Amino acid sequence: MSKLWAGRADGAINEAAEAFNASITFDKRLYREDIIGSVSHAAMLAKQGIISLEEEKLLISGLSAILADIESGDLVIDEKAEDIHTFVEETLVARIGAVGKKLHTARSRNDQVALDMKMYARNAADDLKKQVLSLAAALTDKAETYKATVMSGYTHLQRAQPITFGQHLMAYVFMLLRDADRLADARKRLNVSPIGAAALAGTTYDTDRAYEALLLSFDGVTENSLDSVSDRDYVVELLSAISLLMVHLSRLSEELVLWSSFEFKYVEISDDFTTGSSIMPQKKNPDMAELARGKTGRVFGDLMAMLTVLKGLPLAYNKDMQEDKECFFDAVDTAKACLGVFIPMIKSLKANEENMLAAAKGGYINATDLADYLAKKGLPFREAYKIVGEIVRDALHGKKTLEEIALEDYKKYSPLFKEDLYEAISVLNCVNKRTSYGGTAVSSVERQIALAREKMQTE
Ligand code: ARG
Repeated sequence: MSKLWAGRADGAINEAAEAFNASITFDKRLYREDIIGSVSHAAMLAKQGIISLEEEKLLISGLSAILADIESGDLVIDEKAEDIHTFVEETLVARIGAVGKKLHTARSRNDQVALDMKMYARNAADDLKKQVLSLAAALTDKAETYKATVMSGYTHLQRAQPITFGQHLMAYVFMLLRDADRLADARKRLNVSPIGAAALAGTTYDTDRAYEALLLSFDGVTENSLDSVSDRDYVVELLSAISLLMVHLSRLSEELVLWSSFEFKYVEISDDFTTGSSIMPQKKNPDMAELARGKTGRVFGDLMAMLTVLKGLPLAYNKDMQEDKECFFDAVDTAKACLGVFIPMIKSLKANEENMLAAAKGGYINATDLADYLAKKGLPFREAYKIVGEIVRDALHGKKTLEEIALEDYKKYSPLFKEDLYEAISVLNCVNKRTSYGGTAVSSVERQIALAREKMQTE
């Protein structure tokens, strides 16, 4: 196929080199951004008198028809073209004749591809943010359901102190709200138009970059032509925001895998989000969570690839930058797919409240509260801590929980122990006494839920 850039060279290219150079197989998904960008470019050229109004009409109706035909399936994107920009322009010229060749006045594929990527990236950020907020809403609803469900909280994966399942779930909600903020923040910074920078130095035509930017809903224009065509910061920023989002999904995945195991039995993942084994009839595997945990690695890879592509590049455009697309698209697709499964999976998740409570009662997780009981009666906390350590050691020997030890036995450790100690160490009381801001008390979880919902509504 004759190349758009045939001129100095004859445009003939080695077959392997041609395939190696082409990006159409993956950048064809930018067809919409490319065509809409070109429509605005034609409008700007006409407004400035660089092309005639008649030419503008022909270009815009030709481009609109191409867009409609691609969307209806009447026009199939030809993968023999070098890239999507080439395909659209060549199709336009084939359809409307020589006037189609005027479209590329005062621009280059370098600013064109930067424009297309920014338009694609801001939509991706918006879509992802919407999904992140849906998942946060689903988790908040679950937290509401289980706001008083007592479970063991863990440190080092050892039973630590009693919390509620609602409190645990709300921790993920606040992570996701930060993810949504990060996506929105990156979008805000990227939303300045690079078009009009042309190849690298700007153009001699009397263009109106601000007008073209306005037509495309940008907040403004980039300030430096070299930076306009060589900037891929926004790809890195979004990949980094997506990587952190995946970290959060992966941590939640790990907990779902643990909690749904026979050893924990804290949650029941709905059957339609699990798989069986081809040999072990009893199996119900949490594959969705495992896959999300696994796919986190490839998103990190996408981020690392992009950072590495950029680190040694001289200004301005270099072909290396074509490598921005596959890693960005892959990360966006991966995160969207994970969120798409997690939203309904979390909605249908059920907690096994009895097992959670039984575990909460079993691991001496009210030992801190027993020490606090002594400390509040005047004993320095370090001494109280030591006495309770001895009580736990003896209770372990005697295979008793702290609730099962008789008052007269408690008195052997300290005369400060009175009948009210049992109330102080009941796990429900342990939870509800933790009313410090952000603590696990039901009232505190309710406050968190209200705050999260308010934030989600204003997004
Ligand atoms: N397919 C190219 C890319 O994605 C488009 C820009 C081509 N520019 C050039 N100078 N060859 O980067």
